[in-house]
Amino acid sequence: MLTINSLTKNFGGNLAVNNVSLSVESPQMIGIIGRSGAGKSTLLRMINRLNDPTSGEINYLDTAVHSLKGPEKRAWQARCGMVFQQFNLVPRLDVVTNVMLGNLNKQSTFRALFNLFPKEEVFRAIDLLERFGIEEHMAKRADQLSGGQQQRVAICRALMQNPDMVLADEPIASLDPMNAQTTMEALRRIHDEDNKIVLCNLHTLDTARTFCDRVIGMRDGRVVFDGPANALSTDVAREIYGADENFSETSTSTNINALPSDLSSTVKAV
Ligand SMILES: Nc1ncnc2c1ncn2[C@@H]1O[C@H](COP(=O)(O)OP(=O)(O)OP(=O)(O)O)[C@@H](O)[C@H]1O
Ligand SMILES: [Mg+2]
Repeated sequence: MLTINSLTKNFGGNLAVNNVSLSVESPQMIGIIGRSGAGKSTLLRMINRLNDPTSGEINYLDTAVHSLKGPEKRAWQARCGMVFQQFNLVPRLDVVTNVMLGNLNKQSTFRALFNLFPKEEVFRAIDLLERFGIEEHMAKRADQLSGGQQQRVAICRALMQNPDMVLADEPIASLDPMNAQTTMEALRRIHDEDNKIVLCNLHTLDTARTFCDRVIGMRDGRVVFDGPANALSTDVAREIYGADENFSETSTSTNINALPSDLSSTVKAV
């Protein structure tokens, strides 16, 4: 359903994404892992066309995403729910209004400015807040919520437009372990219950291993691993993370090292 062919992004000679090809045949929860600067955000930002590809193709069902322009490009962006590390809520607005802003492209800015949302939108926002266990906070200002609660509000906002897929860029990087867990569970529910593709940039392999069906490992703009997390060998994990202290600290080498060595044979070389 989502096919990426030879996708490249060149920022003035810096190949942030270098000839990446991958295909998602059915709704999956996919973790994209890699060190800082590996190209994870740029890849997501090209999928939702916040960044224009330098070359290559992105196709979703019968939509040639890479060549969309103007209103069609904006319509595509509405089909990609985005979740960011810093939540990107409007801090002074209440929670339920923040959620409804997720549908801004479908309603007039004028109405939104004056907080005149149709009743069904309000009910829909409340339903989402209930679903993710934060309805009791709906009338509070967004900046009065904890980071984990804000991230769940951001997830509700992303779902407000009923997107085809959810793209999450380091959604738990600013959260403590408890809130990280709740946030990943919420993303997983979008996959499990709504049957959507969830693409999630993550720093640590442990998180990808726990929550994702599939892991894509990037290094220097290239995909160096694509497969189930438990098929990631120590060698490939080292290739993704490099032989620095991050490998043992945040890349959960304990689990990687515990892998039976025969699993490494299932690693798909890319
Ligand atoms: N707008 C931009 N202009 C120029 N270079 C950019 C731009 N965005 C990203 N880059 C460069 O592209 C490369 C990949 O960056 P990207 O943000 O995609 O990495 P990342 O894997 O998401 O890293 P992190 O884990 O730190 O978020 C980096 O070298 C970065 O400096
Ligand atoms: Mg990034």
